[in-house]
Amino acid sequence: MSDRNLKLLLALRQWGDVQQLNAVFGPENPNGIEIVTWTQDGSRVFNDATSLDADIVLVDPTLPAFEPNDIQRLYHHEQKPIVTLGAIPSQGDWGSKLYQLGIKGHVDLPIGEAQARALVAMGHQAVQDALRERSSPSYIPQVSTQVAQLIATHGWEKSMVAVWGAKGGVGKSTVSENLAAVLGVIANRNTVLIDANMAGGNAHIHLGFPESAIAKNIAALARRYQMNLSTQGYRGVGNVGMLSAQPLLSPSEVQGHLTPFRNNLRVLIGIPKQFMGGDEYFQGDQGRSFMHELLSVLGGLADFVVMDLGQDTNAAVHLQALREANYVFVVINPDAASVRATGEVMETLFKHVQLDAKKFRLVVNRFHPEHGIARKDIVNALRMPEVGVVPDGGPKVTASLNRGYPLVIDSRGEIARAIVSIGSTLYPPVSQVWAHRGKLGGEKHEGLGKKLTDLVFGAG
Ligand SMILES: Nc1ncnc2c1ncn2[C@@H]1O[C@H](COP(=O)(O)OP(=O)(O)O)[C@@H](O)[C@H]1O
Ligand SMILES: [Mg+2]
Repeated sequence: MSDRNLKLLLALRQWGDVQQLNAVFGPENPNGIEIVTWTQDGSRVFNDATSLDADIVLVDPTLPAFEPNDIQRLYHHEQKPIVTLGAIPSQGDWGSKLYQLGIKGHVDLPIGEAQARALVAMGHQAVQDALRERSSPSYIPQVSTQVAQLIATHGWEKSMVAVWGAKGGVGKSTVSENLAAVLGVIANRNTVLIDANMAGGNAHIHLGFPESAIAKNIAALARRYQMNLSTQGYRGVGNVGMLSAQPLLSPSEVQGHLTPFRNNLRVLIGIPKQFMGGDEYFQGDQGRSFMHELLSVLGGLADFVVMDLGQDTNAAVHLQALREANYVFVVINPDAASVRATGEVMETLFKHVQLDAKKFRLVVNRFHPEHGIARKDIVNALRMPEVGVVPDGGPKVTASLNRGYPLVIDSRGEIARAIVSIGSTLYPPVSQVWAHRGKLGGEKHEGLGKKLTDLVFGAG
């Protein structure tokens, strides 16, 4: 390590602080640590630190859009640990909170010469300690219980995620169904999976729902919405009667259309027949406002909403979901055509639609090191931070779809681990839950034959 400088990323508000640090860590300095960049945008910290190969991040926790979980994500970053040091504001009790979240040292703001100098020894020491911990046999790449509890009590764990891909067959359904199972079944958080693929739903097949459940699907709910709309009239200016106070979709109507899977996971089943995606209540303004109404109701009902979206960005329902999601997980396969197609679709998407680019995250699915394309190159080409890499699991992945429950439920393999790790970016404690649980007992391994019979003739 001593033959190269450590790289320091500054995530600070004030230019004055950066100037002080530049005097100590600027170009050609003799202190063995150099500044790689300065950002004032908290949401960039993880991406910048990992893509610029930083060793140390100095962060002011009051930076806009700073995500406390990033401290752990950086520390457990796969390639190498990235340690976070705090730049602590004089107002508030940030110090102890940040130490609980995992910082390895701190200086007080504003930064003067003494603080800057103190960072030299502190930075070297913290990196050495982190490398020692990483190489020790007892290293566990997980969030500590204490941190998990802290995060759980802070309500950072609510979010809506749209899983989307520019191509069919890349693994949108596989990723979204397994992610929903990680959050709703393994972590046991109140989770709703929406199969919103307007090119035809398949979650009900993958999750082994009986034929009798399928009538309660997203089209039935959209039809209900349209009925409410036509009986209540438009809510708008001057409409102050009793009817206008009624929501166009009530929580009980939405709940009535959800099918329980296991534990805390419920599913809004998708359209069972592809042509239904063309129905009028999914088009234009109606489709948009239905989706908006649905997501605002679910926001109050669930901790996590995971949406399986079809590739078509002209579909009003898909577009509205992309707009309202807190995160969009873009699924791609590591082949040049998939990367290029994704890049092109996203470019036109961003040109024509107001979408916050910061919430897009990459999921590389079916990754195999021998495919000859580096993850770093994919990340750079698409300019999105990577949230996970799912290896190619061969036929057992498809077999799990045919068997009727998501693979994460009973697998301890690499694919399950990858999806749990994606889930942990939304709800960090799940890594621990997963690590500590034994194999679930009592799983019924029903044969494909019975499943197909159930699907075709209804469950017996
Ligand atoms: N990581 C993986 N390893 C092996 N097979 C996969 C993997 N991800 C998806 N598949 C398979 O690829 C096919 C398409 O996946 P699916 O999730 O239905 O894609 P999409 O929803 O994007 O159309 C399915 O047969 C699935 O089993
Ligand atoms: Mg699909």
